[in-house]
Amino acid sequence: PSGAADGAGPFDFVVVANRLPVDQVESSDGGTEWRASPGGLVSALAPIMRQSDGVWIGWSGSPGPAPEPFDSEGMHLIGVELAPEEVRDYYEGFSNATLWPLYHDVIAAPEFHRSWWEAYVAVNRRFADTAAANAAKNATVWVHDYQLQLVPGMLRQTRADLRIGFFNHIPFPGYEIFAQLPWRRQVVEGLLGADLIGFQRRADATNFLRASRRAAGLSTRGSEVNAADGRRVRAAAFPISIDSAGFAEVAAQPHVQARSKEIREALGNPKQVLLGVDRLDYTKGILHRLKAYGEILDDGELAPPDTVLVLVASPSRERVEQYRMLRDEVEVTVGRINGDHGSVGQPPIHYLHQSYPKEEMAALYLAADVMLVTSLRDGMNLVAKEYVASRQDETGALVLSEFTGAADELTSAFQINPHDIEGLKQTILRASTANQAELRRRMRAMRRRVFEHDVAHWARTFLRTLEDSADHRHRRREP
Ligand code: G6P
Repeated sequence: PSGAADGAGPFDFVVVANRLPVDQVESSDGGTEWRASPGGLVSALAPIMRQSDGVWIGWSGSPGPAPEPFDSEGMHLIGVELAPEEVRDYYEGFSNATLWPLYHDVIAAPEFHRSWWEAYVAVNRRFADTAAANAAKNATVWVHDYQLQLVPGMLRQTRADLRIGFFNHIPFPGYEIFAQLPWRRQVVEGLLGADLIGFQRRADATNFLRASRRAAGLSTRGSEVNAADGRRVRAAAFPISIDSAGFAEVAAQPHVQARSKEIREALGNPKQVLLGVDRLDYTKGILHRLKAYGEILDDGELAPPDTVLVLVASPSRERVEQYRMLRDEVEVTVGRINGDHGSVGQPPIHYLHQSYPKEEMAALYLAADVMLVTSLRDGMNLVAKEYVASRQDETGALVLSEFTGAADELTSAFQINPHDIEGLKQTILRASTANQAELRRRMRAMRRRVFEHDVAHWARTFLRTLEDSADHRHRRREP
């Protein structure tokens, strides 16, 4: 839009993410309205938004017209519209059937379609234009995640004044895998529009630096890429976290504690509750977890009614083929294990294909003796951190896949390789029989980490580094 180049927009701080932090809820007049959903990212960014006149640009999650811009808790929200075909090609297609499986080490086969790529470019353009139209001169723009990798480059072209940060919430794959992407050079160049590119783990940043050399032919020095236009772009790790104190507070509420007891009672007061909580996604290793648990039951090492597994798999991306197939496989497997090992009123697995509010999640964490995080690949895995934050009495065991970003930080967890079913079984058994002193020692160390490195610390660290990187660029340009 004309005028944008002069910094026509009013906002000094612009967050750009595929999703707006809103839910559609029923309004008092029987219609529906949008209400802000207080997730971890929002709680970290809301104070910054209030201080610096911030706006959040994103999609509502429904096809068709975007909600009218509205304000929530000192934050302005601006919707970006996606037409039904764009939901199919940009969101379900290129984002979630091309990039998602590719970036998670091709656990599922990525599909490459030129029409999906075209939709991805067009929608990224719309997000970039909306950001450009709303950003004040010299504003800070923070772009999030794999759905919007072209936005930094598009913004840089029209708005060289902006300070642009990008954070990738999911893994960035090794070059041998990334190289499959027919548009690998465009993606790298899109990201390099930023002053700072943040990743979850150091390994992700290293992978990106290598992709810059190989796919875009650029040189790198330490953690910086020498971009084609002479700028130096920094790529580094900023492991994301949760609002740890806020989550702990929820878990400490008397009604949440009471609810956790109620859950255990409803499960038949077993000696051991095992818990899995994920979006129903093939990256989460749900079938590996079920295989290990099923074999433990076969071996008679654990058995209902003393032990039960609660498996919360929240609905996700249900129109994408691979997700439908996974749901069928999970449900067949759960049914088989319950059929083989259950008795009336005593199934070994309580399977819930639902999503729950924060309070209920906290109650589930409190009810669980052993938390099972078995991802085959996971950018961070915040469930692991939520479990730790909720265990105020320092009890409980966390079984955690090495293939999560969280494993770099939570080194005192019972770490596992989910592909090693034998090792997984043994570690589940070890975690469920460990003595209180060992569990406490491990939990205490993990809690220290999660409370010191919360999501506010993450946002502060990223934004401070962005400020330094961008100032550095400005200084070098001035004579
Ligand atoms: C992951 C991604 C997010 C995404 C979320 C839920 O955490 O990193 O960008 O929003 O999954 O997926 P969805 O497709 O429902 O937005």
